[in-house]
Amino acid sequence: MNILAIETSCDETAAAIVKDGQKVVSSIIHSQIPVHKQYNGVVPELASRAHVQSIHDVIQLAWKNKQNKIDAIAVTVGPGLAGSLLVGRMAAQTLGWLEEIPVVGVNHIEGHFLSPMIEHKKLEPPMLGLIVSGGHTELIISTRWGRYEKIGQTRDDAAGEAFDKVSKMLGWGYPGGPIIERMARTVARIKTLFPIPWLHGTWDFSFSGLKTAVLYKLREKKRWSHTEKCQIAAGFQQSVIEVLVGKTLKAAQSFHVSRVIVGGGVAANRALREAFQTAEKRYGVKALFPHPKLCTDNAAMIGAAAYIKLKHSRKSQGLQIQPHLNIPKIKSRTYQFS
Ligand code: KG4
Ligand code: ZN
Repeated sequence: MNILAIETSCDETAAAIVKDGQKVVSSIIHSQIPVHKQYNGVVPELASRAHVQSIHDVIQLAWKNKQNKIDAIAVTVGPGLAGSLLVGRMAAQTLGWLEEIPVVGVNHIEGHFLSPMIEHKKLEPPMLGLIVSGGHTELIISTRWGRYEKIGQTRDDAAGEAFDKVSKMLGWGYPGGPIIERMARTVARIKTLFPIPWLHGTWDFSFSGLKTAVLYKLREKKRWSHTEKCQIAAGFQQSVIEVLVGKTLKAAQSFHVSRVIVGGGVAANRALREAFQTAEKRYGVKALFPHPKLCTDNAAMIGAAAYIKLKHSRKSQGLQIQPHLNIPKIKSRTYQFS
């Protein structure tokens, strides 16, 4: 089954063709980073305008080879920026109407959750997912295809957002995650340490205190050398990684899930991937990642998620745009902390 997928939830205009949920036939991503860079973050109105300008070309490029028969069109319906989501939905519905192809709505978080499926062909539930991006930091359990329960989420900033803000404080660019990762890599031994935001007694996360700790550190003096800034970046990154890896693997152990999947922009971070690989054996858990190109927003993951929906004949998300589309948080389970 060939699915043409469209993703416009934030600042990437993307289209892809995915065969049987696992083979990426084509994938086009038009990044708006140059548009938002000067503001150090995504400006919603500029994002929707940029989607309008590029969506047609992006879809055309992804579906250049018209020999590829399309069985369904998938489109992200939320969560995301309302105006940006609307552009994708209008494009999907118009194309569906013109070509007489059914259109299915997909949850963006479900797309990130299922993105490792493209790399790891035999993936199946039960799985615990850490979705860690610029807008989300969530721990989600899937006990069967299509069933998701959130056990934890950030109470303030998303991890990627904290990377972006700390990069800005250090006078570096946007998006901050890849820059901080690069600078941290130049540090042989981390001497500038920051608190690890554990939030005991819950699977929730919090990164705003850590961000403030970096701010207070920077207020200690007026000028910081590049080497000192790299130390701060490395110390900050280490605290984020320690809490993400520690909490996720503990949750997997607690909920008796042996497969952990990590998706979202921050999952591209090599230090995070290495930390999971180092720790996973201790917890008897296997951590799986999507290809780095499929960590940040892309349409291939939306195609993979749509395939799972159609294969397991669940209702699609519907085509109603839902900017705050949520995965329900479970309250009933007894948490076991050690
Ligand atoms: O998944 P994504 O493209 O968009 C959202 O759904 O939010 O994630 C973008 C976020 C940004 O905050 C960016 O700084 C972060 O992912 N990011 C990274 C890395 N690459 C992207 N964070 C840490 N290390 C990276 N290598
Ligand atoms: Zn995303």
